[in-house]
Amino acid sequence: MQHRPIKKIVLPVAGLGTRFLPATKAIPKEMLPVLDRPLIQYAVEEALEAGIEDIILVTGRNKQVMEDHFDHAYELEKILQEKGKDEALEISRSMLLEEGRISYVRQMRPLGLGHAIWCARKLTNGHPFAVALPDDLIKGKPGCLKQMVEAYNEYGGNIVATMKVAQEETSKYGVITPGVQEGNKIEVKGLVEKPHPADAPSNQAIVGRYILQPEVMQHLEERQVGAGGEIQLTDAMARLIDSQPFHALEFEGRRFDCGSKIGWLMANLSLAAEDPSMAAQLKTLVTFK
Ligand code: UTP
Repeated sequence: MQHRPIKKIVLPVAGLGTRFLPATKAIPKEMLPVLDRPLIQYAVEEALEAGIEDIILVTGRNKQVMEDHFDHAYELEKILQEKGKDEALEISRSMLLEEGRISYVRQMRPLGLGHAIWCARKLTNGHPFAVALPDDLIKGKPGCLKQMVEAYNEYGGNIVATMKVAQEETSKYGVITPGVQEGNKIEVKGLVEKPHPADAPSNQAIVGRYILQPEVMQHLEERQVGAGGEIQLTDAMARLIDSQPFHALEFEGRRFDCGSKIGWLMANLSLAAEDPSMAAQLKTLVTFK
């Protein structure tokens, strides 16, 4: 069966980033660099690799700098041109998408991830769409979103990316109740947000990548408040399970929680260790296992 293609992605970037204060007091967490580019750029590059065309950022106050990142920097470009710094000019322009492919909508109050996604309902406009949380940096070949689009082309419906975590870690994630497993694709029978380890239905934890059917917006519309007093995406997704196909993809690759200091540091070290221009020098400081 032909499934409606995934051409849109919602990138919620309206969170407060309290775990990274004071770095995130005046700059958005999504603009923290890992090596040479901000987190938001990794997410957009991963989406483009997966064949996604329309990028929708759900922003909030103090997030305007992301709009500038995806726009011309005329003064800088002019100076680089005059100085003949062609390589730097090329890098500066590398994230310019065709006009109209990137849109911004504001979440006026940080009421939770589910509410942020709902703020994009007019822009997703009845189409199935992907979601990526830019602070989850995922290294994969191919990228995680591409792996998910491939799984979606096979199964349709809704897909969440998962990874196995230690049982005591389940209280930090959304967790699936697994059904039939085919390779790394697992039928989802239920979803619960941040369960106590003793109550967790499995150790398959959801990371920040989703493919969702537009009906999720109707459930988000109800603004049901869940774990942590926030409008949770997991709760709205759970209500799709009985009426639509729902699968987890245990993705191939490595995920770094760059919303936490240690996750961000490990992402930097891991990427630097694979970069020939840095690896040798890095080894004088750190030994990798
Ligand atoms: P987090 O749970 O990491 O929350 O959000 P946070 O506020 O960004 O960071 P901490 O926990 O205070 O350090 C997960 C994702 O959901 C988005 C965030 O931007 C991030 O991509 N989000 C969260 C919103 O867009 N709006 C919200 O109201 C909450």
